[in-house]
Amino acid sequence: MNDRPATPPPPAAAQDGRTEPPQHPHIRSFAMRRGHVTAGQRRAYADVLPRVSLPYAAQPLDIEAAFGRHALRVLEIGFGMGETTAKMAQARPDVDFLGVEVFAAGVGALCMRIDDLQLDNVRIVQHDAVEVVRDMLAPDSLAGVHIYFPDPWPKARHHKRRLVAPPFIALLASRIAPGGYLHCATDWQHYAEQMLAVLSDESMLANQHAGYAPDPRNPLIERPTTKFHARGERLGHGVWDLVFRRR
Ligand SMILES: C[S@@+](CC[C@H](N)C(=O)[O-])C[C@H]1O[C@@H](n2cnc3c(N)ncnc32)[C@H](O)[C@@H]1O
Repeated sequence: MNDRPATPPPPAAAQDGRTEPPQHPHIRSFAMRRGHVTAGQRRAYADVLPRVSLPYAAQPLDIEAAFGRHALRVLEIGFGMGETTAKMAQARPDVDFLGVEVFAAGVGALCMRIDDLQLDNVRIVQHDAVEVVRDMLAPDSLAGVHIYFPDPWPKARHHKRRLVAPPFIALLASRIAPGGYLHCATDWQHYAEQMLAVLSDESMLANQHAGYAPDPRNPLIERPTTKFHARGERLGHGVWDLVFRRR
């Protein structure tokens, strides 16, 4: 699924037509897939996204204004088809969920779920999460972060594309409020081991368990079983959860 290298977007063109140098260029953790967008996803993308979308901007987001209330906020990076996001948002209407995904079919799919379930506690940024976290989210602003089944990049030469890696995890940890949590899950053992090493080495984070979490629960909610979880178990990969607290 993700063997093709991603092509970084060209540098943004300045208004006077010059090309601005890229800000902190980084390796992308995703491959630009065209992917089939169904008619329903396309319709929801057009009809629902405008009211739940927070467009990427290289400036701090007023997150309370974006949700229209003061509540605990959870960031989910790479929500895929939005199955987990929608189930969690339905189970915890008191919590606000900010989902970040680059994949248009996935954004359309989550918009369909938002519409079907009449969710008003989900907002979507369709953009690279590394830049969203870096540019839009304030330090100490999140109650929790979910990274579920991130692209595993199994080939050794692609390991550098993995999202759960030191520079990004330090940045991400700084956006979590003290006492908040980071919950990751993967069905790839090698990536699980990398996650455990990277998160354990980050001085802002403390493991809530001795090693992997014994079940898919974090301090706010239980991670529901989804397609990737079921596939991991079916293929005998196993599934590993990690729950760390921000110090
Ligand atoms: C393997 S899928 C898992 C989807 C979902 N979390 C689940 O458990 O079903 C990983 C998703 O992360 C997204 N992704 C990867 N890197 C990303 C990034 N830097 N910013 C936003 N989304 C990203 C991909 O587009 C893909 O949809």
